[in-house]
Amino acid sequence: MNIVLGVAGGIAAYKVCHVVRLLKEQGHSVRVVPTEAALKFVGAPTWEALSGQPVATDVFDHVEEVQHVNVGHSADLVIVAPATADLLARARAGMGNDMLAATLLVATCPVVYVPAMHTQMWQHPATQDNVATLRARGAHVMEPASGRLTGTDSGPGRLPEPADIVEYALSQVEGLPSTALAGTATALADTQVFISAGGTREPLDPVRYLGNRSSGKQGVALAQVALDMGANVTVCAANVANDVLEPIRGRATIVPVETTEELHEQCVAHGEESELIIMAAAVADYRPAEIAEHKMKKSGDEGMTLSLVQNPDILKDLVARFGDTKTIVGFAAETGSDESTPESLAQQKLLRKGCRALVFNSVAQGAVFGDDATSVIVYERDGDDVRERVRASGTKQEVSRVVMESVAQLLPS
Ligand code: C5P
Repeated sequence: MNIVLGVAGGIAAYKVCHVVRLLKEQGHSVRVVPTEAALKFVGAPTWEALSGQPVATDVFDHVEEVQHVNVGHSADLVIVAPATADLLARARAGMGNDMLAATLLVATCPVVYVPAMHTQMWQHPATQDNVATLRARGAHVMEPASGRLTGTDSGPGRLPEPADIVEYALSQVEGLPSTALAGTATALADTQVFISAGGTREPLDPVRYLGNRSSGKQGVALAQVALDMGANVTVCAANVANDVLEPIRGRATIVPVETTEELHEQCVAHGEESELIIMAAAVADYRPAEIAEHKMKKSGDEGMTLSLVQNPDILKDLVARFGDTKTIVGFAAETGSDESTPESLAQQKLLRKGCRALVFNSVAQGAVFGDDATSVIVYERDGDDVRERVRASGTKQEVSRVVMESVAQLLPS
């Protein structure tokens, strides 16, 4: 495969030498396209020696070969590592002011960005906005690793390990076997995993119900990743559309339910036989006290008062039944309140529910429900302490990979 490896000007460029090595060892042709700034960190001779190909940075290098077009055209995969904040901004803006930017404008193959920068630069709204736009246009943006940065500080922004970059990047090329989970392909082998997905509906009468906006995409994406990691998976699908379930049909056991009480029953039955239980479904806290036998009729000009009764808290019940022997993970979609941030509400919820970990996502202004992209923080509970394990944002598929890898590590070995 013809791989173009763009290198932007960040100190992590030195680690990318090993990426060239790994790709070459797998038999790929690698053309390195560094920016001017990248050459201040690692010089052209190093890239040329490792790749066995010439290096050009400027659109005016070797003009007769029309390189600014040809390099991008002939690529089967473009990887940009490290992708600096500046490079991401230029790519988003569609600039063509050096060889790498021009190559990105021309490439029609999969493009993988591997960001590496200081935490503040990574978390800056401009960078996050650029990443979201590039993803929306179809680019794959890897999550940076968290840990020690160039200075004494640490946080998200580290370049992921070269082997992980190679696995992730190659898995984005259709037709190649997915190696993205090569390191974890057996992490859940023979593990029984139960996942609730979707949103419960509470009937009012034969035609109406009280429900919520959950699509089930997140739960199904988690199930897909768990299957890829070797697990036996049962998904309890609360009102999940057929097309959403398609990717796991035939691979996972799917148990359809409608109401919270039905979900409760199935969670207890399947929870019993599972080692990892993930409650991703949005569950109705209340249901109508009575379900009308016939369609309810409008009466005069008066308003209407519904009488509701509380549903069981399934997650709490599962923790009470199985919390000592099984790894139970909850979800929390929070908007925050006048007094509390959404993050602190999620942390309090983890302690209240007593599960082992909780995946928090912010749903301010209706974001996340039904979307293909999401952003989460995984919190872990240790007694009365709550620790942040990992943050991830991207497609629900990408986020699920990070979440499953993180919670798989919580299983007793
Ligand atoms: O309390 P809240 O609905 O915010 O908690 C969310 C978590 O609790 C999710 O994991 C959800 O599946 C679970 N839950 C439950 N039973 C309920 C309400 C929520 O299991 N009645």
